[in-house]
Amino acid sequence: MAGLFDPYTIKGLSLKNRIMMSPMCQYQANTDGTVTDWHFVHYGARAIGGIGLIMLEASAVEARGRISRHDIGIWSHEHEAGLKRIVDFGHQYGSKMAIQLAHAGVKAETDEPNVAPTALSHFERYAVPQELTVGEITQIVGAFATAAERAVRIGFDTVELHGAHGYLINQFLSPLTNKRTDEYGGSFEKRLRFALDVIQAVKGVLPAEMPLLLRVSATEYSNEGIDIHEMVKMVAAFKQAGVDMVDCSSGGTLPVAPPAIYPGYQVQFADAIKQGADIPTIAVGLLDTPALAEEVVRNNRADLVAVGRGLLRNAHWAKVAAQELKVTFELPNSYARAY
Ligand SMILES: Cc1cc2nc3c(=O)[nH]c(=O)nc-3n(C[C@H](O)[C@H](O)[C@H](O)COP(=O)(O)O)c2cc1C
Repeated sequence: MAGLFDPYTIKGLSLKNRIMMSPMCQYQANTDGTVTDWHFVHYGARAIGGIGLIMLEASAVEARGRISRHDIGIWSHEHEAGLKRIVDFGHQYGSKMAIQLAHAGVKAETDEPNVAPTALSHFERYAVPQELTVGEITQIVGAFATAAERAVRIGFDTVELHGAHGYLINQFLSPLTNKRTDEYGGSFEKRLRFALDVIQAVKGVLPAEMPLLLRVSATEYSNEGIDIHEMVKMVAAFKQAGVDMVDCSSGGTLPVAPPAIYPGYQVQFADAIKQGADIPTIAVGLLDTPALAEEVVRNNRADLVAVGRGLLRNAHWAKVAAQELKVTFELPNSYARAY
């Protein structure tokens, strides 16, 4: 069985190791959604640090879909040049570059009213949203496709749809936030429709060899919400529609915390989805102990390990992990004498 530092290929995407930098909002973009030097240095440093797949943070497919006024945007031509500079630099150091395409729905904080499947907010922080019309839903599906097309043009190696953490795609999937009675809500099939429309539209603009990633919340930590059993069924449908790999997170639909948070607490979801829906998965969540990350890959519980906060603390997390696991791992020559 392969380990954390062995290469990995999925369709046309070949990674030098199985470490993904987990998407993490930096709230450092200009208010027009363009990236700043912060992003260039932040992502560039992790490329120098040898990360196989760098997933840029939640990037908005339309302005009113931003989590904050300082999110990265990917809805306009104006966003392309800054993102391209980051992607080109990452490629220079052998990292594959990806971007998370997002719409926050009810959890958006911009100058415009927030929108959602249903006029319902479970959070004190977020205003009651406007219910989306079918026409607006079609327009947002188009915005995801346009953003994906833009990502390909910029040079990203893959894209991840943000279907987790109670954001718009998740809001349509969840019976907690989707109370619609039209073709976009009600039955299991109808709750899936928005996600399937987005997947289909995005697949339509991606090159055939480019994998499509999807991040999900495998459980919503509520008896009335999505649980892992329902999510396995959902992923089977997403796979049918063209999703190639699932990034397995949890929570965010309701203001509730997981009952227990411990190293690897979400690995069970990556494992269950991998086995249950027969699809490659990414495990995430307190996996920055190298031996634990290695265990997840070696025992085939997930195909990739995403590291979030561990990579905020140390851009050279991969080098430290390799040393602990006694694996050869070269940083660029300029840093060779440090080790
Ligand atoms: C500062 C910060 C920003 C985050 N932003 C995002 C995001 O943009 N998209 C997303 O899917 N998850 C986001 N997350 C969640 C992380 O991707 C990751 O799933 C989580 O931190 C657990 O992994 P870790 O224990 O390795 O940090 C964020 C987490 C942090 C700490």
